[in-house]
Amino acid sequence: MSRIDAIMAQMTLPEKLGQLTMTASGYAVTGPVIAGDSTQAIIDGTIGNLLNMVGAGPVHEMQRLAVEQSRLGIPLLIGLDIIHGHRTLFPIPLAEAGTFDDALWERTAREAAREGAAEGLAMTFAPMLDVSRDPRWGRTAEGPGEDPWLNTRIARAKVRGFQGGDLSAPDALAACAKHFVAYGPVNAGREYAAVDISERTLREVHLPGFVAALEAGVATLMPAFTDLNGVPMTAHVPLLRDWLRAKMGFDGVIVSDYNAIAELIKHGVAADLVDAAVLALKAGVDIDMMADAYRKGLPVALEQGRVTIEEIDASVRRVLRLKEQLGLFDDPYRRGSTPEPEAAIDERRALAREVARKAIVMLKNERDVLPLPAAAARLAVVGPLADASTEMKGPWWGAGEHEPATSVLAGLRAALPRADIRHAPGVAIDGADDNGIQAAVALCDGADAVLLCLGERATMSGEAASRATPALPGRQQALAEAVIARARALGIPVIAILFSGRPLVVPWLAEHADALLAAWFLGREAGHAIADVLTGQASPSGRTPMSWPRAVGQVPIYFGARPTGRPMNPADYYTSKYQDVDNTPLYAFGHGLSYGRFRYEGLEVEPRRVREQDTLRISVRLRNEGVREAEETVFLFVRDKLARVTRPLLELKGYAKLQLKPGTAGSVELQLSCAELRYLGPDLQPVFEPGEVEILVGPSAEPAGLLRLTIELC
Ligand code: NOJ
Repeated sequence: MSRIDAIMAQMTLPEKLGQLTMTASGYAVTGPVIAGDSTQAIIDGTIGNLLNMVGAGPVHEMQRLAVEQSRLGIPLLIGLDIIHGHRTLFPIPLAEAGTFDDALWERTAREAAREGAAEGLAMTFAPMLDVSRDPRWGRTAEGPGEDPWLNTRIARAKVRGFQGGDLSAPDALAACAKHFVAYGPVNAGREYAAVDISERTLREVHLPGFVAALEAGVATLMPAFTDLNGVPMTAHVPLLRDWLRAKMGFDGVIVSDYNAIAELIKHGVAADLVDAAVLALKAGVDIDMMADAYRKGLPVALEQGRVTIEEIDASVRRVLRLKEQLGLFDDPYRRGSTPEPEAAIDERRALAREVARKAIVMLKNERDVLPLPAAAARLAVVGPLADASTEMKGPWWGAGEHEPATSVLAGLRAALPRADIRHAPGVAIDGADDNGIQAAVALCDGADAVLLCLGERATMSGEAASRATPALPGRQQALAEAVIARARALGIPVIAILFSGRPLVVPWLAEHADALLAAWFLGREAGHAIADVLTGQASPSGRTPMSWPRAVGQVPIYFGARPTGRPMNPADYYTSKYQDVDNTPLYAFGHGLSYGRFRYEGLEVEPRRVREQDTLRISVRLRNEGVREAEETVFLFVRDKLARVTRPLLELKGYAKLQLKPGTAGSVELQLSCAELRYLGPDLQPVFEPGEVEILVGPSAEPAGLLRLTIELC
């Protein structure tokens, strides 16, 4: 008899339901006893999983209660959200997506897992794989941006990084692919709102990231809070039971989102907690996070014959198996038993700086005002985000809440110890007070350049942080106008640095600032990384993983849109356009400048006639015609111009990087498996269809910058 069979044979119903329950320890911290009200329940075996604990000491203390004092000694599964680093905060996921660097994505997840596991954790609720094409939605900050193919790459890298090669290793965490599925297209970008999308969009845009996570062996998965076309995901039988479990063969743990089972009542599909518990269990949800619906509802449902003990057992078995795979039965204290060496912590900081530097997107750099000339002796560092170290951490700092982070001001002062760097916030991030603007404007006099640090407060993005107008909040626009007017009069450049968890709608700033950097929220090393780029220590190489709208009314805006029968034609009234704004984004997906200047030439694609089993070899030559060494990211798109259903105007299928010294040239090689040119036909089944496909290569999704060649599928 296996260990799990032996345990299950002895379990009472309350003990089984305990394994299906996850409680927040923080919420129960009421005194010297760490898990407060949960302590007795852990000893009784009626709580088997915890979230939100930090620190090896408390984690082990809780574990000891379960292992040494409960009747069956089943270890706890303890998880925490590690969204962009545990203690060492890396850039937010949206920013990290813009590095287009699989190895880096994996490394940050690996290091976060090491750090979390060193504090006794065994699970994290990450990665977040919700494609977002709507910057109003605050959780855009936590995800991969707008593109489904990019999302698959991130999904794989993150699962590999968190879980490592062996789930039972002391530095491995069980990852959780969330939020399943299509949470990103909430109606009008409003958090937790309904989702109504087509089956095609679901399959083409929102499922692929999860398929990739499953292929990478993700251990757990979390349904979204939202409903999809009328069915809340927590009770979604067709997608959870029929697709995920039956079709994809996922036998890992499904953990509900926070209180999501009880929320089935407010969704209006469950009459009470018993009903809610039945719906979630039947759909395949194993662990009830924070609703206590399973412990309260399932005994009643069982008695009424609405669920069977076999259904409960199947979930219990999955939870116990995960604990076994994590090595918790063999040694529940293996995670967190040895403190991390100082060197590991230092290396992690260096990694945080590297990834932050690579995530910065230089959106504009007119007249090459950046990097700052070495002769720049006096700088005016203006704006409410210039000296805002806490904001640099972004919306979800997890265990990094009390860790230091570097502001732009501190980073610049460290990088340029001899420069005269003066600072005035001008205005607060939010609010109506203009009184500080004059002092900020006055700083421009005598300065060689102005660094204008604007944007959102970190908590303006993330969960429950939708914004109907994702623009500069408060009086920041007034500050920008006043500072830029003064700088113009003085003839000094203004470099605007934007902090945000999403693309912001800033057409005026983009037009009037001389340079514009998207610095997102870059984590603990933000200020140093920004200084590296401003001073030219590093050439910016980040690319935006989302299109930047010109106006909120363009949202959702994304490069993978499908064509229209009446493409935009300014000369033809009855075509697809706005009367008041261009169709195009302000900055296209993939846009991002460097300190080099790259010319693309000589696109080659071999072979030109392909079958499904072939692989395309694509190469393009790049020349750095600029005066500085820089790294270029090259994107590969395809366009299927004639198919039985409308196909996106562009589909991302690859990217590669090339570093070139000034005046030198080199080639980038990309491969594309032709099976990737299949699409979902009218019946939503994949087809490989004979015909022409365009192969497009260039620096972003902006069509004018793409080289193209046509191949034939046969
Ligand atoms: C709610 C969030 O939606 C989810 O992403 C997170 O993992 C849980 N809370 C637990 O903190």
